[in-house]
Amino acid sequence: MSSSTSNVVAITGHGSFITLQSHVLAEERRHPEATGTLSWIISALAISAKTIAAKLKRARLEDVLGEIGSENVQGEQQQKLDVIANTVLLRVLQSRDGVAVLGSEENDELLHVDAEGGRHYSVMFDPLDGSSNLDVGGSVGTIFSIYRVAEGRGSTLLPGREQVAAGYVLYGSSTIFVMTSGSGVHMFVLDPSIGAFIRVAEHLQVPARGSTYSVNEANLASFPEGYQRFLAQCRDTGFSSRYAGAMVADVHRVLIKGGVFLYPPTAKAPNGKLRLMYEANPMAWLIEQAGGAASTGRGRILDVQPEELHQRVPVILGSRDTVADLMSCLA
Ligand code: AHG
Ligand code: MN
Ligand code: MN
Repeated sequence: MSSSTSNVVAITGHGSFITLQSHVLAEERRHPEATGTLSWIISALAISAKTIAAKLKRARLEDVLGEIGSENVQGEQQQKLDVIANTVLLRVLQSRDGVAVLGSEENDELLHVDAEGGRHYSVMFDPLDGSSNLDVGGSVGTIFSIYRVAEGRGSTLLPGREQVAAGYVLYGSSTIFVMTSGSGVHMFVLDPSIGAFIRVAEHLQVPARGSTYSVNEANLASFPEGYQRFLAQCRDTGFSSRYAGAMVADVHRVLIKGGVFLYPPTAKAPNGKLRLMYEANPMAWLIEQAGGAASTGRGRILDVQPEELHQRVPVILGSRDTVADLMSCLA
C-alpha cells in the first residue's frame, strides 16, 4: 500500500468532525482574556436545543400540542410547547455560572439570577419561534442573544451592536445550530446517533444578491408604499416567494441562498411584529456577520436603542444588494 492518505477511512461525510463544543473552546483559546463563562453558556444553549428537539419529535405522541389557554404579556396565545421550551431554557441557563439576567418572549419581565463566575452575562431568547407551525409539523426554532453586563447594570437593555454571541436553532428536517461570536457565522448539525452538534460550515456568506423574497404578502395593502413598490419590482424581475411563517426557517433560507426577509410596518402592527431583543437583533448580527444587511427601513437594526424587553421593530434582513434595492424604494 502506498504511503498516501488513501488508506485513511473517512468516519463522516464531512472531513473535519469538529463538535460545537470543540469549536467554542478553540474560539475561546484565541482570546487569552476569556474566562470560559461564555463557552459554558453556549454549551447550556446546546443542551437546551437538544432537549427541545427531542420534545418536539414526541410532541404529538405525548399530547403536548395546542394552546395552553393562557396569553403571554404580548397578548399572544401560548402553546404548550412555548411554555415547555421556555422552562427548559430557564432551568438550564439559571444553573450556569455567570448568567445574571434572562429575558424571554414568554416572561413579562427580565429575570435576575444570583450570578457567580468571572464575568456576568444576560441572555435574551425566543424559546420557540414560529410556534403556530407546531400543529402542522412545520419548522420552528429557538433564537438567542448574549450580552456582557456590567456589575449592577443588569436591568439596562443594550443595543444589538453590543452582543457578544447570538444564534438560532432550526428544528426542521434536521436540527441545525447557527451562531456567531463576532468572527463569522458557523453552522452545526445535530448528529442524533451521538448526541453532538457537528460543524458543517464555517464563515457562511449570504450571496450578495438573491431572487427570493420572504414576507407575509397577505398584509401587502397596508405596507408603506416603498415596500409595495419594491415587491412589485421583484415580481416584475422574476423573483420567487417563500414564507414558512417561522422567522428562523425563513432567515435560514436567506442566509444560505440569499434574498430578503421582511416584516414591515402594517396597519395592525405599526412597528412590525417582530421583537427587537430576541428576534431582530440576533438575526441582524448573524446576517451582518455573513456579509448581508439588516435594517429597520430607517437605519441599522443593531443601532436601535432598546426601551423595553418586548419592543417591536420593522425588520429587513438579506443579501447586501437586494436590501440596497429595497432601501432605494423606501428613500
Ligand atoms: P413566535 O412564534 O415566536 O411568536 O414568532 C412568530 C413570528 C415569526 O417567527 C414569524 O416570522 C412571524 O411571527 C409570522 O407572523 P405572521 O403570521 O404575521 O406572518
Ligand atoms: Mn418568534
Ligand atoms: Mn416564540
